Amino acid sequence: MGKKRISDKMEKVLNTQMTREAYQAQVYLSYASWAEVNSFAGIANFLYGHMHEEREHMFKFLKYINDRGGVAKIEAIEAAPANPKDIGDCLRKTLQHEIDNSIEVDKIANLAHEEKDWPTFNFAQWFVKEQIEEETLINGIIDKYNLASTEVDGNNSLYEMDRDLTDASQESETPREEEF
Ligand code: FEO
Repeated sequence: MGKKRISDKMEKVLNTQMTREAYQAQVYLSYASWAEVNSFAGIANFLYGHMHEEREHMFKFLKYINDRGGVAKIEAIEAAPANPKDIGDCLRKTLQHEIDNSIEVDKIANLAHEEKDWPTFNFAQWFVKEQIEEETLINGIIDKYNLASTEVDGNNSLYEMDRDLTDASQESETPREEEF
């Protein structure tokens, strides 16, 4: 293990966020399974795909902590929340989970700035951008849902929206710089 280059406080905060990303994956997994059971195959597919993204986020935190001489601690993950009531509820709750997560990511950037820990500040920026992208992505799907569910042939439109999501990208349309 290399020399420790992050503060104890930062190590703790990064570990908490690592577990939070694992929780995000739990949320997507449970909502995906719920959508699948309720015959929304496209939304399920999209949510399963996003579950993998959240696991990658968790792993990025793990690697960063260890690479900076800290120790990643694998801890219990909170149980997934209750099933949503319907697709609208599912999407709105997903967005709220992402917003809550963005707030936590911003706190890491703030702490890194306070500590003048520029490597962690730089690391956190990737997540700041990722959160913008994720919120944009979910907001876009909510817009489509609102449109589909207010049209006269609402059920048919919802069916089409679900079908379109089968091949939907996990990325929003927001341009993003190359990953580091
Ligand atoms: Fe890793 Fe969707 O936040």
